[in-house]
Amino acid sequence: HKTLKPFPKDFLWGASTSAYQVEGANLEDGKGPSCQDVKKVPEGTSDLTVCADHYHHYKEDIALMAEMGFKSYRFSIAWTRILPQGTGEVNPKGIEFYNNLINECLKYNIEPIVTMFHFDMPAALDQRGSWSNRESIDWFVNFAKVMFENFGDRVKYWLTINEQNMLTLVGPVIGTLTIPEGCTNELKEIYQQNHHMLVAQAKAMALCHEMLPGAKIGPAPNISLVYPASCKPEDVLAAQNYNAVRNWLYLDMAVYGVYNNLVWAWLEEHDATPEFGEGDAEALKNGHPDFIGFNYYNTATCQWEDGTVECDSAADQQTARGETGMFKGFKNPYLPTTEFGWEIDPQGFRATIREMYSRYRLPLLVTENGLGAYDTLTEDGKVHDPYRIEYLRKHIEQIRLAISDRCEMLGYNPWSAIDLISTHEGMKKRYGFIYVDRDEFDLKTLKRYRKDSFYWYKKVIASNGEDL
Ligand code: BG6
Repeated sequence: HKTLKPFPKDFLWGASTSAYQVEGANLEDGKGPSCQDVKKVPEGTSDLTVCADHYHHYKEDIALMAEMGFKSYRFSIAWTRILPQGTGEVNPKGIEFYNNLINECLKYNIEPIVTMFHFDMPAALDQRGSWSNRESIDWFVNFAKVMFENFGDRVKYWLTINEQNMLTLVGPVIGTLTIPEGCTNELKEIYQQNHHMLVAQAKAMALCHEMLPGAKIGPAPNISLVYPASCKPEDVLAAQNYNAVRNWLYLDMAVYGVYNNLVWAWLEEHDATPEFGEGDAEALKNGHPDFIGFNYYNTATCQWEDGTVECDSAADQQTARGETGMFKGFKNPYLPTTEFGWEIDPQGFRATIREMYSRYRLPLLVTENGLGAYDTLTEDGKVHDPYRIEYLRKHIEQIRLAISDRCEMLGYNPWSAIDLISTHEGMKKRYGFIYVDRDEFDLKTLKRYRKDSFYWYKKVIASNGEDL
C-alpha cells in the first residue's frame, strides 16, 4: 500500500511523432532525401512519400492536440529539410516549415520538444559513410548549430539522438546502418559509429548550453530494465551484461562521459573497442544533459549463455538480443503481448524509472511509450480503442507510483500523437490518439478522426492525471 503523490503542476502531458514517419512531402519544398527515403521499403508496407501528410495538415493536427489539452508536442526536425545535402546550403523553406510548426504549438501554449535526429541520416551523407565517417561528428554539430540559431529563441527542450542504442543494436531493422565494404570486424565498426554518435551528442549538448543558456537538452535512448530469467546467479550476471550493453552504456556516457566498464571489457575481448580521436575524451566529459529523455515500451529478460548465440535477424527494437558468452534473450512467461508480439509490462516501467533515477539523479522525460494495434474506423466515424486506453492507463499509474517513490518526472509524451508509419510494419500498426483515414497503399481521404483514447487522454490531462 502506497501513499500517492500528485503529478507535478507543470507536468508535460503530450505525445510524440518523428518527421520521416509523420510528415510525408518527403521531397517537397527543397527537402533532400534521407536514408529512409532511399531504403528498400519492407514488403507489404507503405513508402514514406505521404505518411500522415502532417506537412500539409500540421495546423489541423496541432489544433486537435490543443483540444486534447497537450502541454507539449515532441516532434523531430528532418535534417534534410533544413540541409538537403546534410551540410552546406540551408533550405529556407525547411526553416519556414519548422518556424510555422513551432509557432503553431506556441499559439496554444504547447511546449515544443524537438528531437534533432530520429533515424533520418541525409542520403548524401550516407554516401559519405554516415556515422562511420569521423566527419559525421562535425556534420551533426553543424546541423545542431543551424537549429539552435533558427529555433533556439522558442524551443526550450531539445533531444539529441533518438534511440541511439537501437540504431547500434538493430540498425538494419530501422533502415539505417552503413557498413563500409571490406570491413573485417563488424562489431568494432558498429561501436566506432556509436562512438562518433556519442561524441557528436556530447558536443551538441555543450553547444546548446553555450548558445542557449535557458534551454535544456538530453539524450533519448530506449531504456528498458533487463530482468534475469531466474534467480540463478548466472542469469543475474547475464541480465547485468545486457543492461550494460542495452541501457547503461548510453546513459553512463551521456551523463558521466565514461564508457561502461562491462561494455568496454566485452569490446576488448572482441578487439572491438572504438578509437578515440583527438579531443574526444574531453568532449565526452564536457557534454552534460539537463534531463534524460527515454522511450519505454517494455522490459527485456535474459538468461546466461555460454555457447554461441545466433542473433535473430527478424528481431526488432524490443526483442532481447543475444551475445556469445554474455546473455541470451528469454521470453518472459509472466507478460502478455500486443497483437504485434511486444511484451506489455507496466510495472517494468516503474522499475525502469526507479533504476534509472537512482543511477543518474536527473529529471526524467518520457519521450515514447504506447501500443501498436490494428484500429478500425466504424461507419459512424468512431475508433473504439479500449486496448490502447488500458495500456496507457496502466503505464500512467506506474509513473505516479514512481513519482511517489520520489523519482523526478518531467512529463509523458507517448507514441504517438497521431497515426503514422511504423519503423518497419507500415501504416497498419497504429499508435495515435488521432486516426488518419488511409490504408497501407490506399491514401483515401487522409481525414482525421478522434479515437476513444483521444477523449480519454483529454480527461487525463484536464485532471492532471487524477482521472484515469
Ligand atoms: C521507437 C521509435 O523505436 O518505437 C519510433 O523511436 C517507432 O520511431 C516506435 O515508431 C514504435 O516502433 P514500431 O516499430 O512499432 O514503429
